[in-house]
Amino acid sequence: MKEKQRREKYNFGQLTAVAHSNIALVKYWGKRSAAKNLPAVGSISLTLDALKTETTFQFDASLNSDLFILNEKPASEFRRNRITEFLNCLAGTDRPFARIESKNSFPTGAGLASSASGFAALTKAVSCAAGLDQNTESLSTLARMGSGSAARSMHGGYAEMKIGDDAGGSDDYAIQLYDEGYWDIRLLVAIVSIGSKETGSTEGMIRTAETAPYYKAWIESSGTDLVDVRRALASRNFTRLGEVAEHSCMKMHGLIMSARPSMLYWEPGTVELIRTIWDLRSQGTPAYVTIDAGPQVKAICRPQDVDRVKQALESVPDVIRVIEARPGPGAYLLNK
Ligand code: PMV
Repeated sequence: MKEKQRREKYNFGQLTAVAHSNIALVKYWGKRSAAKNLPAVGSISLTLDALKTETTFQFDASLNSDLFILNEKPASEFRRNRITEFLNCLAGTDRPFARIESKNSFPTGAGLASSASGFAALTKAVSCAAGLDQNTESLSTLARMGSGSAARSMHGGYAEMKIGDDAGGSDDYAIQLYDEGYWDIRLLVAIVSIGSKETGSTEGMIRTAETAPYYKAWIESSGTDLVDVRRALASRNFTRLGEVAEHSCMKMHGLIMSARPSMLYWEPGTVELIRTIWDLRSQGTPAYVTIDAGPQVKAICRPQDVDRVKQALESVPDVIRVIEARPGPGAYLLNK
């Protein structure tokens, strides 16, 4: 492409975008197409205000390759390649190279969905720099190519990732069910380990689909969980929401453990935290467990129970820190 055409097609200004991580209340695990990153099951999530990625992006004609700084250090080759591939998908292979600086307000790659907030922020910035459609559903389709859960982080509040039928994935995107002001529930994230996880979600999903004997049952039963959570949200029924979210989480981890070779994302502190939350519940405090592909435990609770639940989580010796999150906003640009 000629330099003049490039100048017209791309915005060479510096853009900063913010996106928040999300927690799945109904979990996504499994792909109907690994190549196109199309999920095999739908999922429902809550976007979290306290877990945030801020990304500064700029096309730069003087660069010979993409430059990716993550949390103030050059990113690993694996992460850089993943970003380059993603930028090629969004902006084309004849695009200029880009300088990307991304910072997470929380541990990266440890089961706190940093890929969700990271790819959502990047999608927002790149789509603007490359002059793409800014409709949230189009952006969600693009974010999904980076990471399935990122499609949900384009929205604030409660979002549902749909599974489409199009082989190309044009109808696999997330929609907003309710915005962040709809219902104030809290998520307390108890961090027990800040090391990166052993098996990435893509590899884990592929191994599960190929070897886990419960995979078919997982796919078949996910529709009921989606209906239940949609109903619980519509009626703001906290007990119902918590029960189904915990069930979806435990079912996903049981499925993952049943793969060959087996995978276990938990640490001893994870199990202790599950028991602590169950004890709280048996003593009358409604709190529910959810865990992604990592050892951290998240307690879903009501605003009036935050202090009690937080104290109980902090009493577990392996807990490094507890982060309190509320429903958060969708991805946005800080400047244009
Ligand atoms: O978006 P990915 O590819 O990192 O997969 C996310 C998988 C889980 O976090 C375990 C579940 C979910 O729905 O977010």
